[in-house]
Amino acid sequence: MSKDRLIIFDTTLRDGEQSPGASMTRDEKIRIAKMLEQMRVDVIEAGFPIASPDDFEAVKAIAQIVRESTVCGLARALDKDIERAAEAIKPAASGRIHTFIATSPIHMQNKLRMEPDAVVEQAIYAVKKARNYTDDVEFSCEDAGRSEFEFLCRIIEQAIKAGARTINIPDTVGYQIPHVFGDMVGRLIQTIPNADQAIFSVHCHNDLGLAVGNSLAAVMQGARQVECTINGLGERAGNASLEEVVMAIRTRPDVFPVETRIVTQHIVPTSRLVSGVTGFVVQPNKAIVGANAFAHESGIHQDGVLKHRETYEIMRAQDVGWSDNKIVLGKHSGRNALKTRLQELGIELATEEALNAAFSRFKDLADRKHDIYDEDLRILVLETEAHQATDTYELVSSSVCSATGETPNALVVLKVQGQELSAEAQGSGPVDAVYSAIRAITKETADLQLYSVNAITSGTDAQGEVTVRLEKAGRMVHGHGADTDIVIASAKAYVDALNKLVTQDEREHPQHSV
Ligand code: KIV
Ligand code: ZN
Repeated sequence: MSKDRLIIFDTTLRDGEQSPGASMTRDEKIRIAKMLEQMRVDVIEAGFPIASPDDFEAVKAIAQIVRESTVCGLARALDKDIERAAEAIKPAASGRIHTFIATSPIHMQNKLRMEPDAVVEQAIYAVKKARNYTDDVEFSCEDAGRSEFEFLCRIIEQAIKAGARTINIPDTVGYQIPHVFGDMVGRLIQTIPNADQAIFSVHCHNDLGLAVGNSLAAVMQGARQVECTINGLGERAGNASLEEVVMAIRTRPDVFPVETRIVTQHIVPTSRLVSGVTGFVVQPNKAIVGANAFAHESGIHQDGVLKHRETYEIMRAQDVGWSDNKIVLGKHSGRNALKTRLQELGIELATEEALNAAFSRFKDLADRKHDIYDEDLRILVLETEAHQATDTYELVSSSVCSATGETPNALVVLKVQGQELSAEAQGSGPVDAVYSAIRAITKETADLQLYSVNAITSGTDAQGEVTVRLEKAGRMVHGHGADTDIVIASAKAYVDALNKLVTQDEREHPQHSV
């Protein structure tokens, strides 16, 4: 039996970025968008262009670069939002405007302060306006999960008449329960007279831990687009997780009447990238992408898996992109070996200079680390790409004296706009001492909100990947650094965050009132 296609609409760069503390720079968004494109996500919601100049530029840059996925910009049902979104997606090979207005009584009365008739008029106006710029217009009924069924039927019928090709039913506050939500979406599709002229989509939040269940229930009742995010990132408790939705559909073809075009082998690398960029560590027992998702601890399970994998495994780890940690390169590997392995991993470096820079970092790492794994290469490329010639601060060297019973003492040298400056400082531990020395040079007063270290691979010679989050006057940035020496990785991460703090813009919240 032939199956319908389920459109995978990824909103990691928009709703995902709305998670407190998950803000991303333009370059980080571009890197993630390229991975999503390689994964063959159908629609990438790249941002909310009216929110800030930086958001606008990020959506525009992604629209210029991405060719194989539709690039979407979010807009409230307002002229200025729609015009800005249209401008941002203009360079896209395939561009979508996603406009929304709240439809629940509680939102219409208390947030919009609009009568239902006016909300319908505004929705019609917004969809028609968006259609002047692109044929691909999506309309969302914000807080549909708490909206009245008759009102949803009315506004959706009008939005389709006005030209919306996709109708999205968001459970904005994560209030829904799978069988109730599935039933509601099915009834909307059955009841609205012109429902066959649009694709019905769902967008579920995870406040009750039901976002994936609600999305899949809606798919069973006719939804043909699911909005989701990598690692389930998103407002509050997050959105439906892309990897869980996709793998449920792939693992249970006997249940779901749909298929996706997702190349599932890209799931784990993309999850790692998003986690690294945002500083949101993936919990070890997270389905599909958690470190323990395919680890068997109990003897009975291990014995079963060794005898016959399927006794305890319903998916293959390799199918979602877990690498088997085999040694891929070493000290004697040349530039071509690096290039070939990167290509096998689907990583294209944009220029020869970028390859040269990556190779020089690779040689440096291979001098200190005997076996280089795929995960080391991915981090190495990220670091190469993240390093900008225009960076204000550059770490030249960092040394720490730390001994039992002694107060650690650090000496740090930074290049600040081309000039070398050094400072010495003490701290309660080696990282604290290095950070004090960096602060003494830069005079930065940003608040350190998060510091986390993760081993990139196993073994005591593994690189440590450090993520820090800094906050200053309401602005938040993440910095990353990797090194076999975690104190140096820590220094790199701090300097990376400070560089971003110097450049990053602020953004507006998409669900602020119209
Ligand atoms: O949760 C929500 O309602 C949204 C809309 C903007 C689609 O994110
Ligand atoms: Zn949302």
